[in-house]
Amino acid sequence: MEETRVVLHKAGEIQPTSSREYEAAGGYAGLRKALADPDQIVDMIKASGLRGRGGAGFPTGLKMSFTKGASADKKYVVCNADEGEPGTNKDRVIMEEVPHRLIEGMVIAALGVGADQGYIYLRAEYPYVRTILEKALADARANGFLGRDILGSGFAFDIQLFIGAGAYVCGEETALLDSLEGKRGEPRVKPPYPGVAGLWGKPTLVNNVETLSNLPAIMEHGPEWFKSMGTEKFPGTKLFTLSGNVVNRGVYEFPVGITIRELFEVVGGGCPNGKRLYAIQTGGASGNIIPASLLDTPMDPESCAAAGATFGAGDLMFMDENCCLLDVLENLTEFFVKESCGKCCACREGNPQLLHLVQKFRHGTAQRGDLDLLVELGSAMTIGCLCGLGQAAPNPILSVVRFFPQVFTTSDAYAKEVS
Ligand SMILES: Cc1cc2nc3c(=O)[nH]c(=O)nc-3n(C[C@H](O)[C@H](O)[C@H](O)COP(=O)(O)O)c2cc1C
Ligand code: SF4
Repeated sequence: MEETRVVLHKAGEIQPTSSREYEAAGGYAGLRKALADPDQIVDMIKASGLRGRGGAGFPTGLKMSFTKGASADKKYVVCNADEGEPGTNKDRVIMEEVPHRLIEGMVIAALGVGADQGYIYLRAEYPYVRTILEKALADARANGFLGRDILGSGFAFDIQLFIGAGAYVCGEETALLDSLEGKRGEPRVKPPYPGVAGLWGKPTLVNNVETLSNLPAIMEHGPEWFKSMGTEKFPGTKLFTLSGNVVNRGVYEFPVGITIRELFEVVGGGCPNGKRLYAIQTGGASGNIIPASLLDTPMDPESCAAAGATFGAGDLMFMDENCCLLDVLENLTEFFVKESCGKCCACREGNPQLLHLVQKFRHGTAQRGDLDLLVELGSAMTIGCLCGLGQAAPNPILSVVRFFPQVFTTSDAYAKEVS
């Protein structure tokens, strides 16, 4: 099944850090069009229907219009390249293979909102990507795509690379901004949103790597072309990360709305060794775990929500018949306990309690009332936590309760007590 490569166009075929090769392959054409009429950029992105690829799916053009409309002496564009969600590797592929597309996207975004300084917040665990980005940024500067007078237009913009320190919560946009400011990364109370009061209190456009990397093609080919791919509510392509018990693990670009079955069977090649598919974790470590019977669900936010799956950043982790879901839940909840920043009580105290309850089921010592408590606590966290980390942490547990109740009800002591 052939990929539809927009963001990954020419990936693997050109020398990644060379702007000359990128340009020869059609790169920087979107920027040239944008420079000819900067005022139309935000309207074109709005018209394209582009939505954020970092997980929340917020309309990108609308977000850009907030920063464009804010009056300030300084504005920033920040690229979220933290990619800390276990099971997500798509931004890494973009930065490794076509870093100039991200740079081009950031310059277009800056031109659209009126920013003159950009940052790429890169996760610390990608040291090889750091080297590639450093070389690509230097090359872009040397060839007039960044700097004081971009392509002779008089527009000034430069990008600084910032390396995170390994905290998952710093992928949350306001914790990321705190971290960029040199503080301990903790989510801020919103509003105000970064678009109007972000980095050092200035209007700041924060977007995901994949989102920004879509801007050049929209500028070059137009909003109608972009809308011809994907679904009506979520146009374009998406990078999907396939991991776990699937033969062809990797990152693939397809139009939004492709079914999980197509991704699993045709692209992924099914489970290794002819094993049966048992469950799929959708949308990353904090996404819902669904049964194999939902394989025909289209991968778009609306269809996923209707089916009880999670679209997130387009991650799919496949689990075969040998997988123990209680092991999976224990592992995931340990991750959230460790990564909670501790700012709010519901997450700081809630996650260890969720872990304690999951472990009781795993060790066969759960008692009457424990399942109700697990659901009550998880549901309270989804509304009571300050940021998405705590709000989404119970998702895997609550979805297993919904789709695989036998996992809990057959746990030894619990089963005896409630029978
Ligand atoms: C705990 C947590 C981690 C996140 N990690 C990332 C990340 O690694 N990359 C990312 O782009 N967005 C991440 N987000 C979402 C960002 O807060 C934000 O919505 C996103 O960067 C906006 O960009 P977009 O509109 O282009 O998707 C995370 C959110 C939370 C709550
Ligand atoms: S939900 Fe968790 S990670 Fe988010 S602010 Fe509260 S304690 Fe920190």
